Amino acid sequence: MTTLLRVENLSFRYIDTEKWAVEKFDLEIEQGTVTVLAGQSGCGKSTLLRCMNGLIPHMYPGEYLGGITMDGLTVDKTKMGELAQKVGLLFQNPENQIFMFSVERDIAFGLENLGLPREEIRRRVDEVLRLLGITHLALRAPHELSDGQKQRVALAGVIAMRPRLIILDEPTSLLDPQTASELVALVHTLNKDLGITFVIVEHRLELLTPIADRIVVMDRGRKVMEGKPADVLTDPQAAVYGIAVPPISKLYTDLTRDGLPLGTVPDTPLELAEEVNGR
Ligand SMILES: Nc1ncnc2c1ncn2[C@@H]1O[C@H](COP(=O)(O)OP(=O)(O)OP(=O)(O)O)[C@@H](O)[C@H]1O
Ligand SMILES: [Mg+2]
Repeated sequence: MTTLLRVENLSFRYIDTEKWAVEKFDLEIEQGTVTVLAGQSGCGKSTLLRCMNGLIPHMYPGEYLGGITMDGLTVDKTKMGELAQKVGLLFQNPENQIFMFSVERDIAFGLENLGLPREEIRRRVDEVLRLLGITHLALRAPHELSDGQKQRVALAGVIAMRPRLIILDEPTSLLDPQTASELVALVHTLNKDLGITFVIVEHRLELLTPIADRIVVMDRGRKVMEGKPADVLTDPQAAVYGIAVPPISKLYTDLTRDGLPLGTVPDTPLELAEEVNGR
């Protein structure tokens, strides 16, 4: 496995604050993986994501120690424009990311800033429209769309830049359960088919555990747990950090505690059923 992003002894505190928002943080993100970042409100998740795409320290003043390398680039020494081609960030609210009068103009926006030739822009826009199943929305005004559609448009704009890493900060928080599952399915496809690496902050862990390779838990700016979803979620420590254990993991823990000799921790009810039936 190749390490795509490496966080090394990173600490950051915002200007005029005493507390470190991220403190002595180490993390390696392997290429092609999906990592979920979890932890209570205010523990530093969004701050860490901002450090990953360079918003910190380039746009937020503060004290920055240690560092991050992304695909060979040292983030704090690399211009935002260069980083934007490697790391894409999707905010919680797509409204913050949608500016233009039509969906296709919006998706083209970042590509125009890269100074790409018109035909290349056209090709990439058509490609992501198709990939995200929103070709029929190309000429619509983004502000008339549903939240789920807006989220797809914003994600399309990020994917069109062909970043190696995409960072999602609570991407499903405005979405209904059905649209949220569709977004997760899309992330899975992009990860498997295009090899895009993902780091995702998400509170509804049960949505992501089936597609996540790792969960990293933060508390007061520090990394306190890290591992495979099944291992982290069945660890009693998780509750200490306010991690809501998905019902399926809890059921599994209860069953094994009562002496049922099951195998691997299931990610979905179907897997659990198969495992129980197989005995
Ligand atoms: N722009 C800012 N200026 C000053 N302090 C900030 C700023 N943004 C965040 N903080 C502080 O940094 C700490 C970490 O905040 P952060 O937003 O990274 O947490 P979070 O884990 O993303 O929380 P949430 O789950 O609520 O989104 C908090 O103490 C917060 O008050
Ligand atoms: Mg946040």
